[in-house]
Amino acid sequence: MERTFLMVKPDAVRRGLIGSIIARFEAKGFKMIAGKLMIISDELVKKHYFEHEGRPYYNDLTTFMTSGPVFAMVWEGNDIIKLSRFMMGSTDPEKATPGTIRGDYATRMNRNVIHGSDSAENAEREIRLFFEEEEFVSNK
Ligand code: CDP
Ligand code: MG
Repeated sequence: MERTFLMVKPDAVRRGLIGSIIARFEAKGFKMIAGKLMIISDELVKKHYFEHEGRPYYNDLTTFMTSGPVFAMVWEGNDIIKLSRFMMGSTDPEKATPGTIRGDYATRMNRNVIHGSDSAENAEREIRLFFEEEEFVSNK
């Protein structure tokens, strides 16, 4: 069983899409083991997106991600890192296939609705950044 970090971004929270996005992962058969509505601090957004520092879109990205609440989650399931990325669709919504989350709900790269970890290493790192072990309910 694999774990990943998923986050409904501020554009989607503002648009009332938390429920629709969660419903897709539930319908797939995955299990949410932690989740919270929160505002990301400047310090946390820098740690989360450290790999992107210096890119042309970095300032817009960090400003956007701290501009309003996000819904941060940890999910569990077979092959969930790869499968949740399939369900999200391409980073650029113009290239995301209809039927994927970004393909259905977004039109622009810098307002692309959802974050999901891209590797086991990043999943563990991101989960640790956003959650404490006691916030998980996987054993109940
Ligand atoms: O989110 P994902 O892992 O699919 O893409 P990424 O390459 O790790 O980029 C992280 C985020 O930066 C994207 O989801 C976009 O919100 C933003 N980004 C952007 O605004 N413009 C780009 N050219 C690339 C990424
Ligand atoms: Mg990424």
